[in-house]
Parts: sequence; structure tokens; C-alpha cells
Amino acid sequence: MVEQIAEDVYWVGVVDWDLRSFHGHELSTHRGSTYNAYLIRDDKNVLVDTVWDPFKERLIENISEVIDPSEIDIVVANHAETDHSGALGEVLRYSPGATVICSKMGEKNIRGHFHRDWNFQTVSTGDSIGIGDETLHFIGAPMLHWPDSMFTYLAEKKILMPNDAFGQHYATGFRFNDQVDQCELYQEALKYYVNILTPFSSQVTAKIDEVLELGLPVEMIAPSHGVLWREEPLQIVEKYRQWAAQEPEERAVLLYDTMWEATRRMAEAIGDGLAENDIPFKLIDIAVSDLNDALVEVFRSAFIAVGSPTANGEVLPAVSALLTSLKALKFKNKSGFAFGSYGWSGEGVGIIRHNLEEAGIRVEDEGLRCKWQPAAEDLKKCRAAGRDIGRSLKN
Ligand SMILES: Cc1cc2nc3c(=O)[nH]c(=O)nc-3n(C[C@H](O)[C@H](O)[C@H](O)COP(=O)(O)O)c2cc1C
Ligand SMILES: [Fe+2]
Ligand SMILES: [Fe+2]
Repeated sequence: MVEQIAEDVYWVGVVDWDLRSFHGHELSTHRGSTYNAYLIRDDKNVLVDTVWDPFKERLIENISEVIDPSEIDIVVANHAETDHSGALGEVLRYSPGATVICSKMGEKNIRGHFHRDWNFQTVSTGDSIGIGDETLHFIGAPMLHWPDSMFTYLAEKKILMPNDAFGQHYATGFRFNDQVDQCELYQEALKYYVNILTPFSSQVTAKIDEVLELGLPVEMIAPSHGVLWREEPLQIVEKYRQWAAQEPEERAVLLYDTMWEATRRMAEAIGDGLAENDIPFKLIDIAVSDLNDALVEVFRSAFIAVGSPTANGEVLPAVSALLTSLKALKFKNKSGFAFGSYGWSGEGVGIIRHNLEEAGIRVEDEGLRCKWQPAAEDLKKCRAAGRDIGRSLKN
């Protein structure tokens, strides 16, 4: 359903209630998502972003409720990724003469996706175009989260359209932040930040400073996924600033996989040691848990312990996947610990320690290895390790 979000500005996007994984199967989306596209009716009609290709007909239907799609003069493509540019071809089939406005890198990346010779016009920070009553300003936002990403600002309406920044994979029947459950909204906004934006945290901070210095009044932030921030729109900017600083909480997360419970029993005993020091923690069997949700726990926690038995000289695959994600997301300000059971060669703990260090996580201790099932003495060592972790967190 089309929704007018300001005078002559319409949300013409699509709610994807059933989406359960995004980026193929890399990102779980328990609450679905939305692909937000915006139509501005003025002397020149402008579409800001499109939707994912499977929903292109819905986009055209929505646009048709407001104007004839052949009357689109400009399509702003803030980002080349398929969830926003996927329907460009369909839109331009209706209005073949329309100009596609994007960043320089946007043109390259859109050409790389679609291999079509559309009527591109590239813009960079500081460029603006008048479309009648409204003026569009463009702000380059490279690596938030692709090299081509940019923001569009509607000067007269004071609406910032930052594409993927400030988004959430969150399907709802409502379009605005003040209409939805705040707990769900922030769960999804944080999960999105952690899994998509964490590696670019320094760019996030710099971009926030840059945009605030421009002194642009912002009455609404209209991202490309989830709800639009109209009530206290800057609250999500403040949250991003906080998240980008990566100052984790005094808490721990113990992530492990296990074949015959030995490594799990070690994890539980480390947890007992943490509990003795009143440190909040979570125990996550990574083989049966959602990796993206687990990474949110990692993001929040100042301490992360990873455990795996040795299997054929390696860690178990679920632990490998976790370690790969830790290296990719480059979390800051964390300490780590490795543990696990083994039978004969026992490489697992060393592999974990090495990978944690490669991920930029401080590892001060050798970690704990236990041969076969832990004996009372081993469990005691695990509890002591938990107490040590707790003490280090409190200092
Ligand atoms: C398929 C398989 C492969 C294994 N490979 C190794 C190995 O290469 N080196 C080693 O030290 N132990 C190896 N083990 C022994 C396990 O590390 C040992 O059983 C450990 O106690 C399992 O811990 P868990 O109960 O946490 O799964 C292997 C066990 C299995 C079942
Ligand atoms: Fe994206
Ligand atoms: Fe996106």
C-alpha cells in the first residue's frame, strides 16, 4: 500500500513479510524486511531507489497509484546492490528517457550488475539538483556499506534518505518508528548494524560528524529497509554513534560446538566461574544457534570465549564459520579465551587462539585444553578460568 510520507513524497516500496534470510542465506531476517522506495512528485518526478527484482511489478503498481510510471524523469540510485537497484530495468522500461543519478562508483557498479547503457548522471558530495519546489542534495557515503553508497537529502522537506544506513530488516504494517514495538525495532536495528556495518564503524563516525557539521535540519530519516524515523529522528544517529564507538558491556559470551558434550561441560564450568563474579553471560552452542544473533551477543560483550573439540586436527565447522565472521567483522575492544576437549593431537585450542588474535581480539591466556571428558580437576580449572575472566572484566 502506497503511503504519503510528506507533501508530494510517497513511500512506494514493498513489505517482504516472509523473508527469512538475506544476502542469500548469510543473514537471518526473522522479522522479514522492507525495500523502501520513494516517489517525489514535482516539476520533475523523482524515484529514489527501487526494490528487489522479484518485487518489481509491485513497485510499478505502487508508482501507478500516484503517477504514470512513464512520467518518471529521474531515478536516484543511492546504492547499486540488487535489493535497491534490482528493479531499475523495469522502471526504465516504462520511462526509458529517465536520468539515473548515482555516485561515480555507483555508475560502475550498476553497469557491472546490469550491463545496460542507461542515461547516467554522476554526483558527489555537495552536488544538488532542483526538481521544482524541491531540491535534492547528495552526500557520498562510501563504505556505508558499499563503495557506491550515497545519501539523498530533500532540502525543503528536511528528509534524509540514507539508503542502507539506519535501516532494519523489519516487516511491519506501519511505516514509522513511533508506530511499532520499540524493543523489536531496536533489536532489528542493532542486529543490522552488527552484521552489516560493524567493519565500517570508523566511517560511520566520520560520516555522522560530517553530516552534523553540514547543519542540515533533519525532520525525517527514511532508510531503505524497515521503518522511517520521524519521531526524534536523530535518536538512531545517536545510537549509531554509540554503536560505532564499540564500547562493549561488562558481560561475556561463551560460544562452542561439541560432539560428545566434553567441550559443553567445560563451557558450563567457565560460566559457573563467571556467575560467581556476577558477570552476565550467555552460553551459545553455535552449531544449533543463529550465527547472526550470536554475533549480536559478541558485539555487546567485552569478553568472548570460544570452544571446540579437536576433530581431524581442526576445529568443528560451526566454530570455523564463527571465527571467519569474527575476522570479517573486526570487532574492537574485546578480550578472548579459547578452550576445548581433545583425544590425542589437540590442535583445536591453538587454532581458536590464533584466529581470535587475527580477528583483533586480545588473547592473554593460553586457554584450556582437556583430554577426553573433563574430570573434576579439569572442571575446577574451567571455573577458575571463569573467575579470572570475571575479574579481568571488572578491572
Ligand atoms: C571424528 C572425530 C575426529 C577427531 N579427531 C581428533 C583429532 O584430530 N585430534 C584430537 O586430538 N582429537 C580428535 N578427536 C577426539 C575428540 O577431540 C575428543 O573425543 C573430544 O573429547 C571431543 O570433545 P566433545 O565432547 O566436546 O566433542 C576426534 C573425535 C572425532 C569423533
Ligand atoms: Fe546494501
Ligand atoms: Fe539494502
